[in-house]
Amino acid sequence: MAEQPESTGAALAAETDAVILVGGQGTRLRPLTVSTPKPMLPTAGYPFLSHLLARIAAAGMRHVVLGTSYKAEVFERYFGDGAEFGLEIEYVVEEEALGTGGGIRNVYDKLRYDTAMVFNGDVLSGADLGAILDTHHAGGADVTLHLVRVPDPRAFGSVPTDADGRVLAFLEKTEDPPTDQINAGCYVFKREVIERIPAGRVVSVEREVFPGLLSDGALVLGHVDSSYWRDMGRPSDFVQGSSDLVRGIAYSPLLEGRTGESLVDPSAGVAGGVILMGGTAVGRGSVIGAGSRIDDSVLFDGVTVEPGAVVRNSIIASGATIGANVRIQDCVIGEGARIGARCELQGGMRVWPGVEIPDSGVRFSPDA
Ligand code: GDD
Ligand code: MG
Repeated sequence: MAEQPESTGAALAAETDAVILVGGQGTRLRPLTVSTPKPMLPTAGYPFLSHLLARIAAAGMRHVVLGTSYKAEVFERYFGDGAEFGLEIEYVVEEEALGTGGGIRNVYDKLRYDTAMVFNGDVLSGADLGAILDTHHAGGADVTLHLVRVPDPRAFGSVPTDADGRVLAFLEKTEDPPTDQINAGCYVFKREVIERIPAGRVVSVEREVFPGLLSDGALVLGHVDSSYWRDMGRPSDFVQGSSDLVRGIAYSPLLEGRTGESLVDPSAGVAGGVILMGGTAVGRGSVIGAGSRIDDSVLFDGVTVEPGAVVRNSIIASGATIGANVRIQDCVIGEGARIGARCELQGGMRVWPGVEIPDSGVRFSPDA
């Protein structure tokens, strides 16, 4: 059971702007992200971003700026001014995506404090945000990066540090990373450093801003910890992250006291003899027929699972129908798709929204 992180920097947090980058297209999660931006996908019963906002609020930050671009309007429609979440949320839209660094620069005029904590909007983490702020202020850093160790650092920014925690280099997505210590997608910036990022053009914080700061001799610190950490950008990680939230392996203030083997919306209908396990989440109005077994999966809203189906490690988007006695493993089923009775799908298959597969229409996996 994950515990609520002890915030040591609540006083610092009250004087820190939270900036969340949510402008990416979520390409690796297609087709789920064709209609919904990645941070808004249902995850353990809430749009993913709700969990991050709850952690930001719990750490003591109040003012949040969302840097949006792809499907920008969806965020404001859901979160509004943030009052319901105990926050004050503002939105800054990039008409043309400006990249991660450009996105940070683009919110500059909204900043209120001398310190900003910037988050990638697709990271599920249990880090003690107050402790990261402490590291930043105690070290007098220009920028402080949250760093974690991962088994395969090639898909991330590899960030070696010296014995004093000073960042030595920043190598974004290289084949031969110098260390398994990676950029966890959470940074503390001195406001003046953000002002110096070039405005009005595409800038990558990973490929341009951080390397530039290091070559200019800026003080960039790493804050390393061993908290829960996962980038939700790929289907397998998305499913695992959602399940870990449901089971309490990853902490969210929104799920306090409600963690367990499954999380079922009260409006969903679950027939007798259904087995829901492995952190499965079942969304609003979904209906699950008798004798089905759903393991380690995410069912969005209005999903129908007919009797006797077995679903494992998969994401089933809103309005999809899974026919009777279907077997699905490691798949993504798009909105409103229909998988006919007795089909067997596995091995990372992705079914596009609205596609209808006839009864017994698929009985193989792409790599079989
Ligand atoms: N506003 C805005 N504008 N946001 C953007 C843009 C943009 O042009 N491009 C990407 N983002 C947002 C995404 O929505 C996401 O929340 C975040 O920036 C990171 O983008 P990803 O596309 O998820 O990047 P990544 O996962 O490949 O790599 C990044 O995250 C890793 C940790 O999860 C890098 O920062 C890596 O260095 C890091 O290790
Ligand atoms: Mg990512």
